[in-house]
Amino acid sequence: MTSDIPGPEFGAAFSGKRVLLTGHTGFKGSWLTLWLHQLGAEVLGVSRPPETQPSLFEVAGVEGLCDSRNADINDAAALSEAVGDFQPDLIIHMAAQAIVRDSYDIPVETFTTNVVGTANVLEIARRSPQLQGVVVVTSDKCYENNEWEWGYREVDPLGGSDPYSASKACTELVAQAYRRSFFSDPKGPQLASVRAGNVIGGGDWAAHRLIPDIIRAIAAGEDTVIRNPASVRPWQHVLEPLSGYLTVAEKMLSGKGDVAAGAWNFGPDSDATVPVGDLCRMFGRLWGDEGPRFTFHSNADAPHEAGLLRLDSTRAKLHLGWHPQLCLEEALSMTADWYRRHAEGGDMRQHSLDQIKKYAARLSPPPDLSTNAELSR
Ligand SMILES: NC(=O)c1ccc[n+]([C@@H]2O[C@H](COP(=O)([O-])OP(=O)(O)OC[C@H]3O[C@@H](n4cnc5c(N)ncnc54)[C@H](O)[C@@H]3O)[C@@H](O)[C@H]2O)c1
Repeated sequence: MTSDIPGPEFGAAFSGKRVLLTGHTGFKGSWLTLWLHQLGAEVLGVSRPPETQPSLFEVAGVEGLCDSRNADINDAAALSEAVGDFQPDLIIHMAAQAIVRDSYDIPVETFTTNVVGTANVLEIARRSPQLQGVVVVTSDKCYENNEWEWGYREVDPLGGSDPYSASKACTELVAQAYRRSFFSDPKGPQLASVRAGNVIGGGDWAAHRLIPDIIRAIAAGEDTVIRNPASVRPWQHVLEPLSGYLTVAEKMLSGKGDVAAGAWNFGPDSDATVPVGDLCRMFGRLWGDEGPRFTFHSNADAPHEAGLLRLDSTRAKLHLGWHPQLCLEEALSMTADWYRRHAEGGDMRQHSLDQIKKYAARLSPPPDLSTNAELSR
């Protein structure tokens, strides 16, 4: 499979590399498959089938850009069979039960998938002789939330009140244990865990997420009911954390994995960390005349979700040279544009690839940074 537009930002680091990507049928995984394809990687995706209707995976024809296989990561034998004799250079693990609200209904499944499923994927990593690195995707919600105004740093305590957040803290501990036990040789494959903010972008149709809820309400001509308008979240376009994951992976594939090992936050700058209500109003303005209508009300009976959440990405900025590229208005504008094109019957694979290409053009080549071994891991 050939790449149609080589991405200049990561050089040839991904060209011809074999990447095992879990969660490739989901929102972030579909975007990442598109980007990896552009970079010339050979992607084996292992996930459950798409769980939303519609899905970015289907709308953008992602299946045609990778070797796509269905397996439950909780079933070690099925996972192993799906991977078959594929020998990955890189594993990016993002399959997860990813919805906070759902985790209240299916807590055991959430813990099983996000904890045991991760261990099953890392067992595949241990048995991969060509492997140069593993990137485990967790979340900003992995931190013990103190409802304070400061951004959480990689050294802050893990925790989580709801099952999803706690499961992602557990994912971090699994990743850390595998890193210390099996991936600690500086000359061997390296393991990183990556923590992003609240991601927005075209092609998300998950339930109980803000932008998909708004898009569904616009299509139905209804008000979007906003349950926690005062909750503050670190909003970012999906390509921002993905560029962080690729920056880490690029280090691993170019023999500088020790620079990338450990935990990394990839959050937005502080001006993109705003209340839900403000984000809704901005999105409404960008959408225009036939824009969304909102009913704001705080629901005291709703399951608990953190009120205030910020991420501190100083470590990634200093040691990986990673920086957010988009202000919140640009991120929302790209998102609105994507959904409008979709509603008009546009070519969503091409539009998504174009958005990636434009975004990638803003990235400067990663600097050659010295080892971060002195940093806490
Ligand atoms: N979207 C966000 O705002 C956000 C923020 C921070 C972190 N994350 C993390 O990023 C990753 C991707 O999130 P997303 O938004 O694309 O989620 P998503 O729900 O759109 O996709 C989840 C993916 O995981 C797969 N999956 C779920 N359970 C599985 C199982 N048991 N076996 C095999 N595959 C399974 C699904 O098939 C799908 O491909 C997740 O790890 C999530 O926790 C997401």
